[in-house]
Amino acid sequence: MSHNNSNPQDDTVKNKERRKFLGIAVGVINIALIGAIVGPVLGFVASPLKRRKKGEWVAVLDDSHLAPGDVKDVSFTMRIRDGFQDVDRQYTVFLRKSDDGVVCIDPACTHLGCRVKYQSDQHRFLCPCHGGVFNQDGDVVSGPPPRPLDKHPVKVEGGKIWIYKEV
Ligand code: FES
Repeated sequence: MSHNNSNPQDDTVKNKERRKFLGIAVGVINIALIGAIVGPVLGFVASPLKRRKKGEWVAVLDDSHLAPGDVKDVSFTMRIRDGFQDVDRQYTVFLRKSDDGVVCIDPACTHLGCRVKYQSDQHRFLCPCHGGVFNQDGDVVSGPPPRPLDKHPVKVEGGKIWIYKEV
């Protein structure tokens, strides 16, 4: 005949502890499994963002084609990463040569983004949307634009004008 000497109260405490331990173990395993599945998926989805370039230098014009005092619009194409594919995108900027060198002015109006036009006879940029006016340097003369036109870094190298365009 066998006797069970264990105290029922001890058993209840042990069972509670066992259940608590199992609960924690299952929780840890679940977190590990979710991490193993979600981690690679997030990595895959975010990979184009990680690969995205911040910008690059582009040769846009022969330096000899821009006379001092001139403002010229130039268009160029850049291959950029858009989501999961590489696409060619066309951009246009204004180049102005002054005594201080070449300046590259972005055509997007700083009010609501319309493309400004250069009026060579009046030496100014005019925004067709709400009549914003900027001088040759891109500074606001009148109208609603809150700040000057944006500028891009420029360098002249190897007889070419290069601009740094963020993408
Ligand atoms: S968008 Fe250029 S003035 Fe409004």
